[in-house]
Amino acid sequence: MQYYNESEFLIETIVPEHELIISRTDLYGIITHANETFCDISGYEEEALIGKSHNIVRHPDMPRAVFKEMWESLKSKKQWSGFVKNIRKDKGYYWVHARVSGVYKDDKLVEYKSLRSPVSFKDKLKYQKLYDAMRQKSGEMSRKIIYEENK
Ligand SMILES: Cc1cc2nc3c(=O)[nH]c(=O)nc-3n(C[C@H](O)[C@H](O)[C@H](O)COP(=O)(O)O)c2cc1C
Repeated sequence: MQYYNESEFLIETIVPEHELIISRTDLYGIITHANETFCDISGYEEEALIGKSHNIVRHPDMPRAVFKEMWESLKSKKQWSGFVKNIRKDKGYYWVHARVSGVYKDDKLVEYKSLRSPVSFKDKLKYQKLYDAMRQKSGEMSRKIIYEENK
């Protein structure tokens, strides 16, 4: 069990309807491009994202199996889409529906890109419950957020 005593963990940033969060990575998942919306929503400056592994925004609530499936799809030249809870620099979170795919030049895979859009409240609830159950089943970390008033 991992305990978090930062109340920031409970603060959600809502992805605006009309904006797309865009990033590109090299073949190892290292960020090579982040658009302004990605920077705003994740709370990082562009310079702090470029050159970092995309797992910089990985939230501890995300089961390993989701990313395993993502990478398996990408490796077999398939596009992947799914619901992802990401962590902000300030430890808040945001939900996205992500579409990740390879970018090909002359039939050669050169990089990966991801476009993300907002998630409905109903889907956030659904996937939070599903991912909690998946982590519990696979023996992955579970979390408890504690709030210390006089900290
Ligand atoms: C284009 C692209 C976008 C990605 N976007 C995210 C993302 O938004 N959040 C995330 O946690 N992982 C994302 N990943 C997957 C990460 O590279 C990584 O596999 C994942 O965070 C799990 O971390 P780990 O591989 O260190 O266990 C993305 C990968 C690619 C190729």
